[in-house]
Amino acid sequence: MSFLSPSDPRVDQAAVTDESVISAHEKLLGVQPDEKGHYRLAPLNVLFFLSGLIMFGGTYLGRYAGYFDPRVYNENVLHGGGSGEAPVAIDPIALGKKLFNNAACNACHQATGLGLPGAIPPLVNSDWVTGSDEKLIRILLHGLQGPIKVAGVDYNSAMPAFGRVAGSGFNWSDDKIAAVLTYIRQEWGNQASGVSVEKVTAIHAKEGDHKPWTVVELEKLP
Ligand code: HEC
Repeated sequence: MSFLSPSDPRVDQAAVTDESVISAHEKLLGVQPDEKGHYRLAPLNVLFFLSGLIMFGGTYLGRYAGYFDPRVYNENVLHGGGSGEAPVAIDPIALGKKLFNNAACNACHQATGLGLPGAIPPLVNSDWVTGSDEKLIRILLHGLQGPIKVAGVDYNSAMPAFGRVAGSGFNWSDDKIAAVLTYIRQEWGNQASGVSVEKVTAIHAKEGDHKPWTVVELEKLP
């Protein structure tokens, strides 16, 4: 066994303790323990605040998330108290009017339903509106293209698809289609029967993603 001489540099290094290494690193890193020697990730009041936030979030979701029922996201269905009550029925005319005037139809056909001379056909005094709902539903679901005569005047343009079909920029549910059609069949002095959601759904199922209709195709329908 050999002893180190006091002048050997390794004598100095042996005096370095774990504590002194840790505290030297803490100084370098800028980390300081509190007065009790504990480290804290975050002050206690921040933890209280966060748990309060989590409680609030939970309560909020419980109250407003509608039991995560996808029907909640149909903004046109009002739910009862959530305990199995029947949804509150929506007046299709009121919904149809809202949809019509929400920059969807009125942008082209105008709020008066008179359209724009030479460019957009009217919905007032139009047999297409008050006549067969078979044709009308298809025009709304899939759109219409090419020549059409409305109230004795020729038009040749395109009406966009509104249904939940491929190529539609609107993706309206069958309920919305039925509501807007019921509205235009009974507004501006028009007097035709309403259009049921069931009929829209049946035609939608039958025709699927049909491309925009032409008058020639529509005239073969009842
Ligand atoms: C971008 C403009 C535009 C928008 C938006 C639009 N239409 Fe049309 N619509 C037309 C054009 C143009 C025609 C004629 C198409 C043709 O010439 O083949 C037409 C035709 C029609 C027709 C058959 C012809 C007639 O005048 O009776 C109906 C019914 C109709 N649209 C209803 C609607 C309804 C309801 C909406 C809203 C849900 C709507 N349209 C939105 C442009 C539009």
